[in-house]
Amino acid sequence: MRIVITGASSGLGEALALHYASKENTLVLIARREDRLADVADRCRERGAEVEILVADVNNFKQMGEIGGRLCEKTIDRIILNAGISVGHSGGVTPFEDFHRLFQTNFLSVHALLEPIIPKVIAQGHGEIVFISSLASILTMPTSIAYSSSKRALNAYAEGLHHQLKPHGINVMTIMPGFIDSEMTQKNRFKMPFLMKTEEGIARITHAIERKKIRYAFPFRFYLMIRIVSLFPQSLRDKIVHFTNFKKGA
Ligand SMILES: NC(=O)c1ccc[n+]([C@@H]2O[C@H](COP(=O)([O-])OP(=O)(O)OC[C@H]3O[C@@H](n4cnc5c(N)ncnc54)[C@H](OP(=O)(O)O)[C@@H]3O)[C@@H](O)[C@H]2O)c1
Repeated sequence: MRIVITGASSGLGEALALHYASKENTLVLIARREDRLADVADRCRERGAEVEILVADVNNFKQMGEIGGRLCEKTIDRIILNAGISVGHSGGVTPFEDFHRLFQTNFLSVHALLEPIIPKVIAQGHGEIVFISSLASILTMPTSIAYSSSKRALNAYAEGLHHQLKPHGINVMTIMPGFIDSEMTQKNRFKMPFLMKTEEGIARITHAIERKKIRYAFPFRFYLMIRIVSLFPQSLRDKIVHFTNFKKGA
């Protein structure tokens, strides 16, 4: 398989690259940090994979379009849109600049890359497009307004793309993880419920991809709690959100 992974220089993207590294697979790894990407690529090659690295900033939309076009020169069996950033806010009004950065990286960059790829996978008649969203896309805390909004926009995009591409035999999948150990979560100063080890998170994500899950939110207990809270009357939901936020120290 030829598998493209964005944000492959650390965290989930790095672990996904290593998971898929075998002599059956060709990997195309994208991120900004060249040294980190080269290190991941070397370890993937040791496992028998053919690897190409593309050092790029997903916020450079023109470059993303060009990379998308170049990727189309060969078959694309699976593309995992994983590159992302989070910015937490302890209180006050979210700066516009943070909204801008989060929407660029977590949302707009995705279509900049996919625009040329979508006709290609339609022509191929097969392919998988996997979005790494977040449980934060279904519950917005006062401290994560910009991050949650960007991931919820991603869900809406993925939903529409699923309906558009399903008739062409393309599987579009949205993965919504809770907290998984990575550089992103190591920065968090609050208690992260149900925090998973990277390997455990990757095992669940890759299993969901193999099963071609259209939407997969995990860990189940955390997802269930969020779903149950969403059924409560608004006044009770307000109390729970404010209590949880208070516990986060915000
Ligand atoms: N860890 C969690 O608990 C968790 C939970 C839910 C969802 N997620 C999502 O999972 C994805 C991966 O996050 P992670 O936890 O693995 O964090 P991470 O270790 O910080 O990895 C983020 C990756 O995205 C890349 N990236 C960020 N900005 C980029 C840019 N402008 N251009 C190109 N690449 C960029 C980074 O590479 P460079 O810095 O080298 O460019 C890095 O490879 C994100 O979309 C995140 O929102 C994570």
